[in-house]
Amino acid sequence: MPTIKDVAERAHVSIATVSRVLNKTRYVSPDVVRRVQQAIHDLDYQHNALARNLRRSQSLTIGVIIPDSNNPFFAEMTRGIEDTCFEEGYVVVLCNSNEDVNKAASYLTTLYQHRTAGLIVVAPGDMTEPLEDYIQRGYPIVLVDRPLPNLSADMVVSDNYGGARLAIQHLVSLGHRRIGLITGDHHLETVKSRWCGVEEAMKEAGLPLLPELTYNRGDFLAESGREGAAYFFRLEQPPTAIFALNDLMALGVLSYAYDHHIHIPTQLSVVGFDNIEMTSYAVPGLTTVAQPKYELGQQAATLLLKRIQGDSAVLQKTTLPTRLILRHSTGRPRAEP
Ligand code: RIB
Repeated sequence: MPTIKDVAERAHVSIATVSRVLNKTRYVSPDVVRRVQQAIHDLDYQHNALARNLRRSQSLTIGVIIPDSNNPFFAEMTRGIEDTCFEEGYVVVLCNSNEDVNKAASYLTTLYQHRTAGLIVVAPGDMTEPLEDYIQRGYPIVLVDRPLPNLSADMVVSDNYGGARLAIQHLVSLGHRRIGLITGDHHLETVKSRWCGVEEAMKEAGLPLLPELTYNRGDFLAESGREGAAYFFRLEQPPTAIFALNDLMALGVLSYAYDHHIHIPTQLSVVGFDNIEMTSYAVPGLTTVAQPKYELGQQAATLLLKRIQGDSAVLQKTTLPTRLILRHSTGRPRAEP
């Protein structure tokens, strides 16, 4: 039975090009199309995707499990996944776990039973055990954004440590000495890494990490950012700056400041993390740490497709760089009274 690989070799093109010609997912030059079609004819290749993949007991479908489909961060990341999969003739099925490990585990089982070819997961918490079980069954799984250190899977993450360090260094360079921190769920590796970056930068600056300036009930949603700001402004000496460990919480801080006539940045500087598109339209624009959201998705999908197509190279953990985006939500603190 001739395979797509045989067609590619005969036409002197890649497997991906043959897939594009067959699925018409992207422009291919007439000359290449002709060569591929000639090879298909010569080899009598049967491109019956469903039949072929049923024989291999898998579909041309990729499962993606994200923690919060309302959060633009995941929407921008998923776009990178979907564009990459579409190019290779795969369809993406998107599942929202709502930051719930049990719901994510339920989707994991369902997607496996529905013969999806592989899975990209942003874990809402520790899912090492259920994921490892399916990996051992040969189900291709790639983690993106949130790593699970003990899982034997490919992972693509951002430099969370370096990004958080940049945020604190920026505020210190402006002269801030009392910096309020609104964290996310400390069980998440991304939060742990960002917190380490905060600790390192504060230590470098000779600033203590004061418990009263840390709001630990952040949940990555905007409302918890508002609640964190309200907490800080009930203090006898509120911070002159707030670093929230994601943009939605930082936008919640901006919303609180607006409602309480706190001028940004003269009375309060605010920094977020993610650089979701709406941060550039906030008033004032939000200074934030940019994650390479599209590239995270693109590289996770590329890795997964390689695994699906039989690549058995050693597992990869890829860390993509983060960078500080300066806008108008940060400035020098007013002179201490
Ligand atoms: O905004 C959602 C957060 O959770 C982001 O910082 C991203 O890293 C995800 O893990």
